Amino acid sequence: MGAQMSKPKVYMTRRVPQEGMACVQNGADMEWWDGEEALPRSVLLEKVQDIDGLYCLLTDTIDVELLERAPRLRVISTMAVGTDHIDVAACTQRGIPVGHTPGALTETSADLAFALLMAAARRVVEGVDYVKAGHWKSWGPMLCLGQDIHGATLGIVGFGRIGRAVAARARGFGMQVLVSHSKPIPEELVAEYRIQQVNFSTLLQKSDFLSLHVPLTPHTRYLFGATEFRAMKPTAMLINTSRGGVVHSQALYEALRDGTIAYAALDVTDPEPLQMDDPLLTLSNCLVVPHIASASLATRTKIAMMAAENLLSGLAGQQVPYCINPEVYKENIRK
Ligand code: DGY
Repeated sequence: MGAQMSKPKVYMTRRVPQEGMACVQNGADMEWWDGEEALPRSVLLEKVQDIDGLYCLLTDTIDVELLERAPRLRVISTMAVGTDHIDVAACTQRGIPVGHTPGALTETSADLAFALLMAAARRVVEGVDYVKAGHWKSWGPMLCLGQDIHGATLGIVGFGRIGRAVAARARGFGMQVLVSHSKPIPEELVAEYRIQQVNFSTLLQKSDFLSLHVPLTPHTRYLFGATEFRAMKPTAMLINTSRGGVVHSQALYEALRDGTIAYAALDVTDPEPLQMDDPLLTLSNCLVVPHIASASLATRTKIAMMAAENLLSGLAGQQVPYCINPEVYKENIRK
């Protein structure tokens, strides 16, 4: 009898949908964090010391300190499309491929962006609170007056997959769609989505609703601050399902408090989660949900599987199918 090959050792930083866990368990010797809340950093740093693969989430910071403690680490797979929680350059330098989940959560995330837009425009949360507080005594001609969505102008910042999926929804609702994007948008896409590409300042000035769809990079950090809010319409509503750091929180608070803009609906915040004493939570014109853009059972199951497949492919010595740093496969980079 030949010697049994031992399975690669993997750590998963939180329970994910069962299909994803089972998939990793099939191909690896897996341990996972069973806590309800995010894995404490100290535990993560201890667990990575003897693992071959790491299955992580956007709540885990993967930095040089961690990589230095993980001499055996060969693959990192995050169950997210955004990789701003990972020092990808440091991984590349060490020849570690990083898997992520582009595409799988596009439509679900666009659904939530649109749900927030509609909730903001039509004052859905205030309406619910009003009824629950027992204030609803009769139909009121001036009660909960919001803004029309049809006929309004939506400004989309960033025209990647999710930005495009939001544009498609907006057209269905009879909105005009302006887009600001870092590169010229090809004519076919402009025609397909019936959008108009404009520069950032035009977008700020003309939009009734602004929906953010850029990754968090040094270039997009605090893309929205006091100057940008002042350039927006006082009736404008900001929808953020991208990353909290794209918006300067204090500047947003002041803009909402002072009526510089009308409303913000946020799936993501900075910091995340918000502390209960965060001033944003004191405002009636700010709606916050807990980073749930991709949170449908079907989509979370899909991305859990995709992350599992990325991890197992990498551990098997194959190219990680959805790899954010494919340059690791160029020969001269590895170590
Ligand atoms: C991601 O995958 O980056 C999203 O933020 C999850 O909702």
